[in-house]
Amino acid sequence: MENRQRLIINGGRRLEGEIAVHGAKNSALPLLSAAVLAHGESIIHNCPQLTDVDAALRILSKLGCRCKKSEDTVTVDAANVTSPEIPDTLMREMRSSIVFLGSVLGRTGRCRLSFPGGCELGARPIDLHLSALELMGMEVSEQHGYLDCTAPAGLHGAKITLSFPSVGATENILLAAVTARGVTEIHNAAREPEIADLADFLTKCGAKIRGAGESVIAVEGVERLSPCEHSVIPDRIVAGTYLCAAAITRGELILTRCEPSHMNGFVTVLESMGARVYTYGGGKMYLSCKKRLVAPKTVRTMPYPGFPTDIQAPFTALCCTAEGTSVFVENIFENRFRHIPELVRLGASIKTEGRVCVVEGVQRLSGAKVRAAELRGGAALIVAALAADGVSEITGLGFIDRGYESPEKALRSVGADIRRV
Ligand code: EPZ
Repeated sequence: MENRQRLIINGGRRLEGEIAVHGAKNSALPLLSAAVLAHGESIIHNCPQLTDVDAALRILSKLGCRCKKSEDTVTVDAANVTSPEIPDTLMREMRSSIVFLGSVLGRTGRCRLSFPGGCELGARPIDLHLSALELMGMEVSEQHGYLDCTAPAGLHGAKITLSFPSVGATENILLAAVTARGVTEIHNAAREPEIADLADFLTKCGAKIRGAGESVIAVEGVERLSPCEHSVIPDRIVAGTYLCAAAITRGELILTRCEPSHMNGFVTVLESMGARVYTYGGGKMYLSCKKRLVAPKTVRTMPYPGFPTDIQAPFTALCCTAEGTSVFVENIFENRFRHIPELVRLGASIKTEGRVCVVEGVQRLSGAKVRAAELRGGAALIVAALAADGVSEITGLGFIDRGYESPEKALRSVGADIRRV
Protein backbone atom coordinates (compact mmCIF):
# COMPACT_ATOMS: atom_id res chain seq x y z
CA MET A 1 0.00 0.00 0.00
CA GLU A 2 2.35 2.72 -1.29
CA ASN A 3 1.26 5.94 0.38
CA ARG A 4 2.73 9.09 -1.20
CA GLN A 5 1.88 11.30 1.76
CA ARG A 6 4.46 12.85 4.08
CA LEU A 7 4.42 14.35 7.57
CA ILE A 8 6.26 17.69 7.84
CA ILE A 9 7.27 18.40 11.43
CA ASN A 10 8.93 21.56 12.68
CA GLY A 11 10.36 20.30 15.97
CA GLY A 12 11.22 21.96 19.27
CA ARG A 13 7.71 22.95 20.40
CA ARG A 14 6.50 21.88 23.86
CA LEU A 15 3.31 19.82 23.73
CA GLU A 16 0.59 21.11 26.08
CA GLY A 17 -3.03 20.09 26.16
CA GLU A 18 -5.36 17.10 26.06
CA ILE A 19 -5.64 14.09 23.74
CA ALA A 20 -8.47 11.51 23.77
CA VAL A 21 -7.12 7.99 23.25
CA HIS A 22 -8.96 5.88 20.65
CA GLY A 23 -9.94 2.21 20.92
CA ALA A 24 -7.24 -0.47 20.83
CA LYS A 25 -6.30 -1.82 17.38
CA ASN A 26 -5.09 -5.08 18.94
CA SER A 27 -8.44 -5.58 20.62
CA ALA A 28 -10.67 -4.43 17.74
CA LEU A 29 -9.13 -6.98 15.33
CA PRO A 30 -9.84 -10.11 17.45
CA LEU A 31 -13.29 -8.67 18.36
CA LEU A 32 -14.16 -8.32 14.66
CA SER A 33 -13.06 -11.92 14.19
CA ALA A 34 -15.20 -13.03 17.17
CA ALA A 35 -18.27 -11.43 15.55
CA VAL A 36 -18.13 -14.25 12.93
CA LEU A 37 -19.16 -16.69 15.66
CA ALA A 38 -22.37 -14.82 16.56
CA HIS A 39 -25.50 -15.63 14.57
CA GLY A 40 -26.80 -12.12 14.00
CA GLU A 41 -25.71 -8.49 14.21
CA SER A 42 -23.07 -7.49 16.78
CA ILE A 43 -22.34 -3.84 17.56
CA ILE A 44 -18.80 -2.73 18.43
CA HIS A 45 -18.28 0.78 19.86
CA ASN A 46 -15.03 2.76 20.29
CA CYS A 47 -13.65 0.95 17.25
CA PRO A 48 -10.57 2.84 16.00
CA GLN A 49 -10.65 4.24 12.44
CA LEU A 50 -7.50 2.55 11.12
CA THR A 51 -6.50 0.88 7.86
CA ASP A 52 -6.03 -2.44 9.70
CA VAL A 53 -9.66 -2.24 10.88
CA ASP A 54 -10.77 -1.49 7.31
CA ALA A 55 -8.86 -4.58 6.14
CA ALA A 56 -10.62 -6.70 8.80
CA LEU A 57 -14.01 -5.35 7.60
CA ARG A 58 -13.09 -6.35 4.03
CA ILE A 59 -12.29 -9.87 5.24
CA LEU A 60 -15.64 -10.04 7.08
CA SER A 61 -17.46 -8.99 3.89
CA LYS A 62 -15.63 -11.68 1.89
CA LEU A 63 -16.80 -14.22 4.47
CA GLY A 64 -20.40 -13.19 3.84
CA CYS A 65 -20.94 -10.84 6.80
CA ARG A 66 -22.68 -7.50 6.31
CA CYS A 67 -20.62 -4.70 7.90
CA LYS A 68 -21.45 -1.07 8.52
CA LYS A 69 -19.15 1.59 9.99
CA SER A 70 -20.19 5.03 11.20
CA GLU A 71 -17.60 7.03 13.13
CA ASP A 72 -16.29 4.65 15.78
CA THR A 73 -19.24 2.25 15.79
CA VAL A 74 -19.06 -0.88 13.63
CA THR A 75 -21.89 -3.37 13.15
CA VAL A 76 -21.22 -6.88 11.85
CA ASP A 77 -24.15 -9.04 10.77
CA ALA A 78 -22.82 -12.63 10.68
CA ALA A 79 -26.18 -14.32 10.23
CA ASN A 80 -24.91 -15.94 7.02
CA VAL A 81 -21.24 -16.87 6.74
CA THR A 82 -21.04 -18.09 3.16
CA SER A 83 -17.30 -18.57 2.60
CA PRO A 84 -14.47 -19.98 4.76
CA GLU A 85 -11.77 -18.30 2.70
CA ILE A 86 -9.59 -15.37 3.71
CA PRO A 87 -8.36 -13.73 0.48
CA ASP A 88 -4.62 -13.94 -0.19
CA THR A 89 -4.30 -10.20 -0.80
CA LEU A 90 -5.79 -9.41 2.60
CA MET A 91 -3.61 -12.02 4.33
CA ARG A 92 -0.59 -10.37 2.79
CA GLU A 93 -1.77 -6.88 3.66
CA MET A 94 -2.30 -7.75 7.31
CA ARG A 95 -0.64 -10.83 8.80
CA SER A 96 -2.75 -10.51 11.94
CA SER A 97 -5.62 -11.75 9.73
CA ILE A 98 -4.53 -15.12 11.13
CA VAL A 99 -6.85 -14.28 14.06
CA PHE A 100 -9.80 -15.12 11.76
CA LEU A 101 -8.72 -18.78 11.66
CA GLY A 102 -10.23 -19.74 15.02
CA SER A 103 -13.60 -18.08 14.46
CA VAL A 104 -14.09 -19.14 10.83
CA LEU A 105 -13.14 -22.71 11.74
CA GLY A 106 -15.47 -22.63 14.74
CA ARG A 107 -18.35 -21.24 12.71
CA THR A 108 -18.00 -23.18 9.41
CA GLY A 109 -15.78 -26.19 10.24
CA ARG A 110 -13.29 -25.00 7.64
CA CYS A 111 -10.87 -22.16 6.91
CA ARG A 112 -8.74 -21.57 3.84
CA LEU A 113 -6.01 -18.98 4.08
CA SER A 114 -2.64 -18.26 2.56
CA PHE A 115 0.37 -18.59 4.80
CA PRO A 116 0.76 -15.16 6.44
CA GLY A 117 4.06 -13.96 5.01
CA GLY A 118 6.81 -12.67 7.24
CA CYS A 119 6.42 -9.05 8.09
CA GLU A 120 8.52 -6.05 8.93
CA LEU A 121 9.23 -7.55 12.36
CA GLY A 122 10.70 -10.86 11.22
CA ALA A 123 9.37 -14.33 10.39
CA ARG A 124 6.34 -14.32 12.76
CA PRO A 125 5.47 -18.03 12.41
CA ILE A 126 2.09 -19.46 13.34
CA ASP A 127 3.30 -22.85 14.60
CA LEU A 128 1.79 -22.28 18.07
CA HIS A 129 -1.61 -21.47 16.52
CA LEU A 130 -1.64 -24.56 14.29
CA SER A 131 -0.36 -27.08 16.86
CA ALA A 132 -2.91 -25.87 19.44
CA LEU A 133 -5.86 -26.08 17.04
CA GLU A 134 -4.70 -29.52 15.85
CA LEU A 135 -5.03 -30.69 19.48
CA MET A 136 -8.68 -29.57 19.19
CA GLY A 137 -9.33 -31.65 16.07
CA MET A 138 -8.27 -29.32 13.26
CA GLU A 139 -6.52 -30.89 10.24
CA VAL A 140 -4.26 -28.78 8.07
CA SER A 141 -3.21 -29.50 4.51
CA GLU A 142 -0.78 -27.12 2.91
CA GLN A 143 -0.22 -26.73 -0.77
CA HIS A 144 1.02 -23.85 -2.93
CA GLY A 145 1.35 -21.58 0.09
CA TYR A 146 -2.28 -22.10 1.06
CA LEU A 147 -3.43 -23.67 4.32
CA ASP A 148 -6.63 -25.66 4.05
CA CYS A 149 -7.86 -26.15 7.63
CA THR A 150 -10.78 -28.43 8.36
CA ALA A 151 -12.38 -30.00 11.42
CA PRO A 152 -14.04 -33.13 9.93
CA ALA A 153 -15.34 -34.35 13.28
CA GLY A 154 -15.91 -30.84 14.63
CA LEU A 155 -13.68 -29.16 17.21
CA HIS A 156 -13.33 -30.62 20.71
CA GLY A 157 -11.85 -29.31 23.94
CA ALA A 158 -8.21 -30.03 24.83
CA LYS A 159 -5.58 -29.18 27.43
CA ILE A 160 -3.14 -26.86 25.67
CA THR A 161 0.15 -25.57 27.04
CA LEU A 162 1.74 -22.78 25.03
CA SER A 163 5.55 -22.82 24.90
CA PHE A 164 5.34 -19.01 24.63
CA PRO A 165 2.41 -16.87 25.83
CA SER A 166 1.52 -15.91 22.26
CA VAL A 167 -1.23 -13.26 22.06
CA GLY A 168 -2.54 -14.39 18.68
CA ALA A 169 -2.40 -18.09 19.53
CA THR A 170 -4.29 -17.47 22.79
CA GLU A 171 -6.94 -15.54 20.84
CA ASN A 172 -7.30 -18.24 18.17
CA ILE A 173 -7.65 -20.98 20.78
CA LEU A 174 -10.34 -18.96 22.62
CA LEU A 175 -12.21 -18.36 19.35
CA ALA A 176 -12.13 -22.07 18.46
CA ALA A 177 -12.91 -23.29 22.01
CA VAL A 178 -16.08 -21.31 22.78
CA THR A 179 -18.24 -23.52 20.53
CA ALA A 180 -16.08 -26.67 20.62
CA ARG A 181 -17.37 -29.85 22.30
CA GLY A 182 -16.20 -30.04 25.92
CA VAL A 183 -13.67 -28.11 27.99
CA THR A 184 -10.48 -26.44 26.77
CA GLU A 185 -7.72 -25.35 29.14
CA ILE A 186 -5.02 -22.94 27.98
CA HIS A 187 -1.84 -22.99 30.09
CA ASN A 188 0.77 -20.24 29.76
CA ALA A 189 -1.89 -18.12 28.06
CA ALA A 190 -1.10 -14.53 27.09
CA ARG A 191 -2.27 -12.08 29.79
CA GLU A 192 -2.54 -8.91 27.63
CA PRO A 193 -5.66 -6.78 28.36
CA GLU A 194 -6.83 -7.49 24.81
CA ILE A 195 -7.35 -11.15 25.83
CA ALA A 196 -9.70 -10.15 28.66
CA ASP A 197 -11.52 -7.77 26.28
CA LEU A 198 -12.06 -10.61 23.79
CA ALA A 199 -13.27 -12.90 26.59
CA ASP A 200 -15.70 -10.18 27.75
CA PHE A 201 -17.16 -9.94 24.24
CA LEU A 202 -17.47 -13.73 23.87
CA THR A 203 -19.05 -14.04 27.33
CA LYS A 204 -21.67 -11.43 26.36
CA CYS A 205 -22.37 -13.65 23.33
CA GLY A 206 -23.04 -16.60 25.65
CA ALA A 207 -19.60 -18.21 25.92
CA LYS A 208 -18.37 -19.78 29.18
CA ILE A 209 -14.82 -18.59 29.94
CA ARG A 210 -12.89 -18.43 33.22
CA GLY A 211 -9.47 -16.94 33.94
CA ALA A 212 -9.03 -14.60 30.93
CA GLY A 213 -6.13 -12.25 31.75
CA GLU A 214 -4.45 -14.94 33.83
CA SER A 215 -2.01 -17.65 32.70
CA VAL A 216 -4.61 -20.43 32.85
CA ILE A 217 -7.88 -19.96 30.97
CA ALA A 218 -10.71 -22.53 30.99
CA VAL A 219 -13.44 -22.57 28.32
CA GLU A 220 -16.54 -24.74 28.33
CA GLY A 221 -17.90 -25.05 24.80
CA VAL A 222 -21.53 -24.06 24.14
CA GLU A 223 -23.84 -24.89 21.21
CA ARG A 224 -24.19 -21.49 19.66
CA LEU A 225 -23.31 -17.84 20.27
CA SER A 226 -25.67 -14.87 19.89
CA PRO A 227 -24.63 -11.35 18.87
CA CYS A 228 -23.81 -8.71 21.47
CA GLU A 229 -22.93 -5.03 21.93
CA HIS A 230 -19.46 -4.15 23.21
CA SER A 231 -17.04 -1.25 23.55
CA VAL A 232 -13.34 -1.72 22.68
CA ILE A 233 -10.82 -1.03 25.47
CA PRO A 234 -8.52 2.01 25.01
CA ASP A 235 -5.28 1.61 23.06
CA ARG A 236 -2.49 1.46 25.67
CA ILE A 237 0.26 1.67 23.03
CA VAL A 238 -1.20 4.78 21.39
CA ALA A 239 -1.58 6.31 24.88
CA GLY A 240 2.05 5.49 25.68
CA THR A 241 3.25 6.90 22.38
CA TYR A 242 1.62 10.28 23.09
CA LEU A 243 3.11 10.28 26.61
CA CYS A 244 6.54 9.82 24.99
CA ALA A 245 5.81 12.70 22.60
CA ALA A 246 4.88 15.01 25.50
CA ALA A 247 7.86 13.91 27.59
CA ILE A 248 10.47 14.37 24.85
CA THR A 249 9.23 17.95 24.26
CA ARG A 250 9.23 18.62 28.04
CA GLY A 251 5.55 19.37 27.81
CA GLU A 252 2.37 18.64 29.75
CA LEU A 253 -0.32 16.27 28.51
CA ILE A 254 -3.70 15.10 29.74
CA LEU A 255 -4.91 11.81 28.25
CA THR A 256 -8.64 11.04 28.37
CA ARG A 257 -10.51 7.81 27.53
CA CYS A 258 -7.43 5.77 28.47
CA GLU A 259 -6.98 2.87 30.91
CA PRO A 260 -3.97 3.63 33.19
CA SER A 261 -4.09 0.17 34.80
CA HIS A 262 -3.06 -1.33 31.42
CA MET A 263 0.02 0.91 31.23
CA ASN A 264 2.01 0.17 34.41
CA GLY A 265 4.65 -1.80 32.49
CA PHE A 266 6.02 1.37 30.95
CA VAL A 267 4.64 4.28 33.01
CA THR A 268 6.97 3.12 35.80
CA VAL A 269 9.90 3.61 33.39
CA LEU A 270 8.69 7.11 32.48
CA GLU A 271 8.57 7.99 36.20
CA SER A 272 12.04 6.50 36.80
CA MET A 273 13.26 8.86 34.04
CA GLY A 274 11.93 11.87 35.92
CA ALA A 275 8.55 12.48 34.28
CA ARG A 276 5.66 13.21 36.67
CA VAL A 277 2.61 11.05 35.96
CA TYR A 278 -0.72 11.22 37.80
CA THR A 279 -3.73 9.04 37.13
CA TYR A 280 -7.27 10.14 37.92
CA GLY A 281 -10.47 8.08 37.79
CA GLY A 282 -12.60 7.94 34.66
CA GLY A 283 -9.82 7.07 32.23
CA LYS A 284 -7.80 10.22 32.73
CA MET A 285 -4.06 10.61 33.29
CA TYR A 286 -1.61 13.52 33.32
CA LEU A 287 2.10 13.74 32.49
CA SER A 288 4.46 16.67 32.93
CA CYS A 289 8.14 16.81 32.20
CA LYS A 290 9.90 20.04 33.03
CA LYS A 291 13.54 19.00 32.79
CA ARG A 292 15.86 16.75 30.83
CA LEU A 293 15.00 13.10 31.40
CA VAL A 294 17.44 10.65 32.95
CA ALA A 295 18.05 7.56 30.80
CA PRO A 296 16.77 4.23 32.19
CA LYS A 297 19.70 1.80 32.56
CA THR A 298 18.16 -1.29 30.94
CA VAL A 299 14.76 -1.84 29.33
CA ARG A 300 13.72 -5.44 28.51
CA THR A 301 10.57 -6.10 26.47
CA MET A 302 8.45 -8.87 28.02
CA PRO A 303 4.99 -10.39 27.69
CA TYR A 304 2.28 -8.51 29.62
CA PRO A 305 2.41 -7.19 32.31
CA GLY A 306 6.07 -6.48 31.50
CA PHE A 307 7.38 -3.67 29.29
CA PRO A 308 5.45 -4.05 25.99
CA THR A 309 7.42 -4.70 22.80
CA ASP A 310 5.08 -2.33 20.92
CA ILE A 311 6.23 0.68 22.96
CA GLN A 312 9.94 -0.16 22.63
CA ALA A 313 10.42 1.93 19.51
CA PRO A 314 8.79 5.14 20.85
CA PHE A 315 10.86 4.71 24.03
CA THR A 316 14.13 4.37 22.12
CA ALA A 317 13.20 7.70 20.51
CA LEU A 318 12.46 9.24 23.92
CA CYS A 319 15.86 8.08 25.24
CA CYS A 320 17.75 9.73 22.34
CA THR A 321 17.91 13.04 24.23
CA ALA A 322 17.86 11.68 27.80
CA GLU A 323 20.90 12.11 30.05
CA GLY A 324 22.97 8.92 30.07
CA THR A 325 22.99 5.61 28.22
CA SER A 326 20.16 3.06 27.92
CA VAL A 327 20.30 -0.58 26.89
CA PHE A 328 17.16 -1.98 25.22
CA VAL A 329 16.74 -5.75 24.97
CA GLU A 330 14.02 -6.80 22.50
CA ASN A 331 12.96 -10.25 23.71
CA ILE A 332 9.75 -10.65 21.71
CA PHE A 333 10.53 -10.04 18.03
CA GLU A 334 13.70 -10.84 16.14
CA ASN A 335 13.90 -7.68 14.05
CA ARG A 336 12.35 -4.72 15.78
CA PHE A 337 15.13 -2.14 15.46
CA ARG A 338 14.49 -1.03 11.88
CA HIS A 339 13.75 2.49 13.07
CA ILE A 340 17.22 2.87 14.62
CA PRO A 341 19.09 3.92 11.43
CA GLU A 342 16.40 6.55 10.86
CA LEU A 343 16.80 7.88 14.43
CA VAL A 344 20.56 8.10 13.73
CA ARG A 345 19.75 10.26 10.70
CA LEU A 346 17.98 12.60 13.15
CA GLY A 347 21.21 12.86 15.12
CA ALA A 348 20.76 10.06 17.65
CA SER A 349 23.72 8.03 18.90
CA ILE A 350 22.58 4.40 18.89
CA LYS A 351 24.35 1.06 18.31
CA THR A 352 22.43 -2.15 17.67
CA GLU A 353 23.71 -5.69 18.06
CA GLY A 354 21.07 -8.39 17.35
CA ARG A 355 18.29 -8.01 19.92
CA VAL A 356 20.15 -5.34 21.89
CA CYS A 357 20.43 -1.65 21.16
CA VAL A 358 22.41 0.90 23.16
CA VAL A 359 21.12 4.48 23.13
CA GLU A 360 23.61 7.18 24.20
CA GLY A 361 21.68 10.36 25.06
CA VAL A 362 22.66 13.47 23.05
CA GLN A 363 21.80 17.11 23.76
CA ARG A 364 19.86 17.81 20.60
CA LEU A 365 18.42 16.04 17.58
CA SER A 366 18.26 17.79 14.22
CA GLY A 367 15.55 17.51 11.57
CA ALA A 368 16.01 15.20 8.58
CA LYS A 369 14.11 13.23 5.95
CA VAL A 370 13.27 9.80 7.42
CA ARG A 371 11.16 6.84 6.39
CA ALA A 372 8.94 4.52 8.43
CA ALA A 373 9.53 0.81 7.78
CA GLU A 374 6.86 -0.51 10.17
CA LEU A 375 4.09 0.74 12.42
CA ARG A 376 5.69 1.42 15.81
CA GLY A 377 9.04 2.35 14.31
CA GLY A 378 7.16 5.00 12.36
CA ALA A 379 5.64 6.30 15.57
CA ALA A 380 9.14 6.50 17.05
CA LEU A 381 10.21 8.79 14.19
CA ILE A 382 7.31 11.16 14.96
CA VAL A 383 8.31 11.26 18.65
CA ALA A 384 11.94 12.07 17.77
CA ALA A 385 11.07 14.62 15.05
CA LEU A 386 8.89 16.56 17.53
CA ALA A 387 12.04 17.23 19.59
CA ALA A 388 14.47 17.73 16.69
CA ASP A 389 15.66 21.23 15.76
CA GLY A 390 14.33 22.30 12.40
CA VAL A 391 12.16 20.51 9.88
CA SER A 392 11.76 16.74 9.54
CA GLU A 393 9.91 14.90 6.81
CA ILE A 394 8.49 11.43 7.45
CA THR A 395 7.35 9.09 4.65
CA GLY A 396 5.97 5.56 4.86
CA LEU A 397 2.76 6.84 6.47
CA GLY A 398 0.89 3.74 5.30
CA PHE A 399 2.55 1.88 8.16
CA ILE A 400 1.69 4.55 10.74
CA ASP A 401 -1.97 4.78 9.64
CA ARG A 402 -2.38 1.10 10.51
CA GLY A 403 -2.25 1.86 14.22
CA TYR A 404 -2.69 5.60 14.83
CA GLU A 405 -5.84 7.60 13.97
CA SER A 406 -4.59 10.82 12.25
CA PRO A 407 -1.63 11.41 14.57
CA GLU A 408 -1.04 14.84 13.02
CA LYS A 409 -4.49 16.01 14.16
CA ALA A 410 -3.97 14.75 17.70
CA LEU A 411 -0.50 16.28 17.99
CA ARG A 412 -1.45 19.59 16.35
CA SER A 413 -4.26 19.91 18.91
CA VAL A 414 -1.64 20.05 21.67
CA GLY A 415 0.68 22.53 19.94
CA ALA A 416 2.89 20.51 17.62
CA ASP A 417 3.87 22.10 14.30
CA ILE A 418 2.98 19.08 12.17
CA ARG A 419 1.06 18.67 8.94
CA ARG A 420 0.35 15.89 6.47
CA VAL A 421 0.94 16.71 2.77
C1 EPZ B 1 0.28 -9.32 18.87
O1 EPZ B 1 0.97 -9.92 17.80
C2 EPZ B 1 0.12 -7.86 18.48
N1 EPZ B 1 -0.67 -7.76 17.25
C3 EPZ B 1 1.50 -7.24 18.27
O2 EPZ B 1 1.30 -5.84 17.99
C4 EPZ B 1 2.28 -7.36 19.57
O3 EPZ B 1 3.58 -6.85 19.37
C5 EPZ B 1 2.37 -8.84 19.98
O4 EPZ B 1 1.03 -9.38 20.09
C6 EPZ B 1 3.08 -9.04 21.29
O5 EPZ B 1 2.44 -8.29 22.28
C7 EPZ B 1 -2.01 -7.89 17.32
O6 EPZ B 1 -2.57 -8.10 18.38
C8 EPZ B 1 -2.76 -7.76 16.04
P1 EPZ B 1 2.66 -13.09 19.56
P2 EPZ B 1 1.12 -11.54 17.74
O7 EPZ B 1 1.94 -14.24 18.94
O8 EPZ B 1 -0.12 -12.17 18.20
C9 EPZ B 1 6.41 -15.67 18.10
C10 EPZ B 1 1.54 -3.85 16.77
O9 EPZ B 1 2.51 -3.12 16.55
N2 EPZ B 1 5.40 -16.65 17.68
O10 EPZ B 1 2.53 -12.84 21.02
O11 EPZ B 1 1.66 -11.89 16.41
C11 EPZ B 1 6.35 -14.43 17.19
O12 EPZ B 1 7.17 -14.66 16.04
C12 EPZ B 1 1.70 -5.36 16.70
O13 EPZ B 1 0.38 -3.44 17.08
C13 EPZ B 1 5.83 -17.91 17.27
O14 EPZ B 1 7.03 -18.21 17.26
O15 EPZ B 1 2.28 -11.74 18.82
C14 EPZ B 1 6.90 -13.35 18.06
O16 EPZ B 1 8.32 -13.38 18.01
C15 EPZ B 1 3.11 -5.77 16.32
N3 EPZ B 1 4.91 -18.81 16.84
C16 EPZ B 1 6.43 -13.74 19.46
O17 EPZ B 1 6.08 -15.13 19.40
C17 EPZ B 1 3.56 -18.53 16.85
O18 EPZ B 1 2.76 -19.42 16.47
C18 EPZ B 1 5.24 -12.92 19.93
O19 EPZ B 1 4.19 -13.22 19.09
C19 EPZ B 1 3.14 -17.25 17.27
C20 EPZ B 1 4.07 -16.33 17.69
